[in-house]
Amino acid sequence: MPTLAVNIDHVATLRQARLGVEPCPLAAAALCEMSGASAIIVHLREDRRHIQDRDVELLAECAKTEVHLEMAATKEMQAIALKNNPGTICLVPEKRQELTTEGGLKVAGREKELADFLHPFAEAGILSSLFIDPDRAQVEAARATGADYVELHTGAYANAKHVVERQTELARLLDALLFARENGLKVNLGHGLNYTNILAFAKVPGVSQYSIGHSIISRAVMVGLERAVRDMVETIRRFAE
Ligand code: PXP
Repeated sequence: MPTLAVNIDHVATLRQARLGVEPCPLAAAALCEMSGASAIIVHLREDRRHIQDRDVELLAECAKTEVHLEMAATKEMQAIALKNNPGTICLVPEKRQELTTEGGLKVAGREKELADFLHPFAEAGILSSLFIDPDRAQVEAARATGADYVELHTGAYANAKHVVERQTELARLLDALLFARENGLKVNLGHGLNYTNILAFAKVPGVSQYSIGHSIISRAVMVGLERAVRDMVETIRRFAE
């Protein structure tokens, strides 16, 4: 059965809006774990816009499930990852100006470079994943790097505006998924998945894990807002007692 890994970057985004201490990503991670998540994902970006180095350290120390660290393939991130020893690292492309990870990592043509980059992780017993577009050439290249997993980018499928486009993107994902499995890679899916568009994968075999962040944190705001307001109203009402 596929498992769920929850990306908690946006809890840190909210905290960084005030540069304070709440909401705490570590507390969010604990709640995700208590609710059935199999792994917690954080992306330590070069610009540190949400997750901070300290979050990674605390998570690595305290998580009860697996920690997945998303990162760019840089020397700085390699050193941080090896120091914190997450269960899995996932290499993603990173551009400073982007709102979120916009496309998959271009692996084709960089097989040797990325294989060398991943080597110390394999030696340390850390699993590796490459976040790629659903494209056979990228899957083949990913296999050549020795990565354990590919995470297929579901963004184009999730963002498709029309049925035909959505079906085309879904077919690309299913083809890449099958091809990756045939090539001995384990497959995760992620980006833009929500409570509706994930249903298309209900009968699709071969997915190891779904990597989901924004829709879960967004829903948490909605399903939790009512309680949060009631709690504050109740607190103020008690002033009169
Ligand atoms: N997988 C990767 C590699 C990502 O970069 C992201 C976004 O941080 C996700 C999954 C989760 O995407 P979303 O927040 O849209 O669920």
